[in-house]
Amino acid sequence: MKVLAIYGSPRKEGNTARMMDAALSEFPREAEIHRIYLGELNYSGCGPCRECKTTGNCVIDDDMQEVFREMVWAEVILFGSPSQFSDVSNEIKRLMERTWWMKGVLRNKIGGYVVTGRRYMESTLNTLHAFMLRHRMILGGSGALGFTFTEMGSIDIDPLAIRDAHGTGMRLVELYELIYGGRKEEKND
Ligand SMILES: Cc1cc2nc3c(=O)[nH]c(=O)nc-3n(C[C@H](O)[C@H](O)[C@H](O)COP(=O)(O)O)c2cc1C
Repeated sequence: MKVLAIYGSPRKEGNTARMMDAALSEFPREAEIHRIYLGELNYSGCGPCRECKTTGNCVIDDDMQEVFREMVWAEVILFGSPSQFSDVSNEIKRLMERTWWMKGVLRNKIGGYVVTGRRYMESTLNTLHAFMLRHRMILGGSGALGFTFTEMGSIDIDPLAIRDAHGTGMRLVELYELIYGGRKEEKND
């Protein structure tokens, strides 16, 4: 099981990361989990070039190229985003824009997310849903929302946040087993 965890908060050990880690703890020991902390990377959003329309690839030469390779590799992709001005973080938004070239590449990959914030979170969810559906990903979990203030660790005031994050992890594993269960072994027979 190839799992890519995309941490979308600039704070590596913030509230969103706590929920991501809870979700990931549900994956079986043999799962390969790659973690990407977007706040540590240098990359832009989509620019004016439209080169991908002719080349079929994103030609911007920055850290997002490694993220693309990881997204292609993964079977399950878990996103984590704080709500920022009623939407996903700019780290996640820039990533989303940059996937414009990935027509069909993410199709049927299993996707899930965790989100933190306190208010106006509906559009954050809409953005994540729209992204995954547009890429024809299989949206797993009903989404884990953590009620947080801006302080690190404030996720602890929401007793359901970590529980729901575990639930998202469990649902992604369930979907993986439903889709891939037994098929890999059969191939080796
Ligand atoms: C620029 C900025 C904008 C924010 N906008 C919102 C918002 O619209 N709604 C909300 O509930 N929280 C908002 N927050 C608060 C964060 O969502 C909250 O602190 C979150 O838990 C941060 O996650 P982290 O600890 O993983 O960094 C905002 C925070 C920042 C820095």
